[in-house]
Amino acid sequence: MKFFIDTANLEAIKEIKAMGMCDGVTTNPSLMAKEGRTDTDALLREICDVVQGPVSGEVTTLKADEMIAQARQLVKISEYIVIKIPATYEGLLAISALASEGIAVNATLVFSVSQALLVAKAGAAYVSPFVGRLDDVSEDGMNLIEEIITVYGNYGYDTEVIVASVRHPLHVVESALLGADVATIPPQVIKKLIAHPLTDKGLAGFMADWEKLQGGAR
Ligand code: E4P
Repeated sequence: MKFFIDTANLEAIKEIKAMGMCDGVTTNPSLMAKEGRTDTDALLREICDVVQGPVSGEVTTLKADEMIAQARQLVKISEYIVIKIPATYEGLLAISALASEGIAVNATLVFSVSQALLVAKAGAAYVSPFVGRLDDVSEDGMNLIEEIITVYGNYGYDTEVIVASVRHPLHVVESALLGADVATIPPQVIKKLIAHPLTDKGLAGFMADWEKLQGGAR
């Protein structure tokens, strides 16, 4: 299973890369804005240099021809750039055109099986269903992942499923159980995945017993 990091924060990316847990990165306009840098192309380039794997940068236009033009500029930043395009009617036109040019697209803001089916048919390299935002409105986000994986399996689409809008470790565990290709995970959730109170408690006991042994040996 691949772990992408859902952030534009370079320090967090470097830290998680050092843990061996960063196969790629996803950004969006809100995550970029959080960093407060107006040189967004330079930031994306720096992220690509660290990650050396797929880095999603999102278009900020709404019409297909504008998205296509922006995507053609964004891919010049690095060989690792993947273009995030929203799953709208205009987005679908853009995905189709970009895919035929060999540009890797991550179809974003996906909330239904029908959207996932169409973006795969259009040739998207990745689909990003937002599980947390569905959970927020009392819909089962992980159920959507299961259905998309079933549909893609039925027809052999090679579009990779990125579980997005991940809010907690259980989203990652359930994604792995369903066989999702990728989870894009916020840095704070990555750190929670390794934490367990019984590990901490057990370690404290081992350290205390070891200390006692050292004291008795003196
Ligand atoms: C996905 O690529 C998005 O950047 C992200 O997962 C959105 O998550 P949010 O719902 O926490 O904003």
